[in-house]
Amino acid sequence: FDVGVILPAAGSGERLGGATPKQYCKILGKPLFLYALEAFEKISYVRHIVLVVDDPSNVEPFLQETNSHKVVVVQGESTRHRSIRAGLQALTKQECDMRVVIVHDAVRPVVPEDLVRQLVLAANENGAAGAVCRLVSTVISAETDGSLKTVLDRNAHLASETPQAFQTDVLVSAYSKCTDKDLDCGTECLQLALEYAGVHAQLVEGSPNDLWKVTIHRDMYTASECLRERSN
Ligand code: C5P
Repeated sequence: FDVGVILPAAGSGERLGGATPKQYCKILGKPLFLYALEAFEKISYVRHIVLVVDDPSNVEPFLQETNSHKVVVVQGESTRHRSIRAGLQALTKQECDMRVVIVHDAVRPVVPEDLVRQLVLAANENGAAGAVCRLVSTVISAETDGSLKTVLDRNAHLASETPQAFQTDVLVSAYSKCTDKDLDCGTECLQLALEYAGVHAQLVEGSPNDLWKVTIHRDMYTASECLRERSN
């Protein structure tokens, strides 16, 4: 069956700092968003890829270069959920019927093909599936005065990463039912699938060596080194 991909890339990259949003920063001479885009282009069962950006004219020169026939570019919105919803609307307008939709942050340049296949199959069966990693740090919560409130058991919690995969109907239904508060504050599509479509996502563990996201300045160095190693 056919699969669609939404690559949200419309963030401002505030936490990275600098004038250029992180998805456009060059790593080994290539803008960050192109790594994930090219990886999904190579997957045969991926039929359409919707790249969601702040301004489509920013990416057109790169897309002309890569000659990407699967890619549709759409305008993003003020939050990640709103950008993904815009991507989903564009994807469902394509003439082919896609049973499963993958959501993957464009600022995550490594896309392990095996993991993508497992997620797609799990989503087709269960409704939703998400990549997870074991926690590196212990997570605690704080009181408003800055003192310690609770310590979570590190072994009982996981870090939610992307790719995530959904039956198209599940994601469409979740986004059609969620509230403005969800759209403005939340970041987790698996939660929308649970709350608004009643689907308990299947979690698939990946390697933290693959499933990292460029978020802060330090990550640019990690990204260069990891991607250099992979290109050798
Ligand atoms: O901020 P964070 O790193 O969690 O963003 C994850 C992804 O969501 C990034 O690829 C970013 O460009 C995208 N995003 C978006 N629209 C927004 C905010 C974030 O597409 N308004």
